[in-house]
Amino acid sequence: MNRKEALESVKANVGNTNLVKHMLATEVIMRALANRFGEDEEEWGLTGLLHDIDMELTGGDMSSHSKLGADLARELGASETMVHAILCHNEAHGIPRETKLDKALFCVDTLTGLIVAVALVRPDKKLASLDVKSVKKKFKEKSFAAGVNREQISLCSELGLELNEFIELGLVAMQEIASELGL
Ligand SMILES: [Fe+2]
Repeated sequence: MNRKEALESVKANVGNTNLVKHMLATEVIMRALANRFGEDEEEWGLTGLLHDIDMELTGGDMSSHSKLGADLARELGASETMVHAILCHNEAHGIPRETKLDKALFCVDTLTGLIVAVALVRPDKKLASLDVKSVKKKFKEKSFAAGVNREQISLCSELGLELNEFIELGLVAMQEIASELGL
């Protein structure tokens, strides 16, 4: 599988452009993390790109979400390591996160939501003017974007990353594709 095929499949299965943007954001942060850890950038990036490919097909049914996605990823040629990460990013299946890739996808998934939410309350609604301090401030403000699970983001500690470094890496990565994200 190459990136083009993966992205085409995502677009064929996901009509909601915000959901596609969420997967692009997850991909770019996963790529940055892979580089940070000397891991396989393509493997990590494509796992991020594909992780919610079944969200619309499963209609939000959390008992099937990720299982179908895992099957679709496998059909596209994803490795079993990638498939496992996709499967266990949905806690409803009770599958433990084992590899670094599993753990990375789980916390990156939520970090993207926080960064988007913080950008959207800026006067210019842009990522370019955002800094780590602003994101951290909103992270601590529990009532802000209350649906964003802070504990999940904090699990970056399992990767050996401080929260500040994780936020910075995620923000810088998303800024690189700001126009694609419309932010
Ligand atoms: Fe996601």
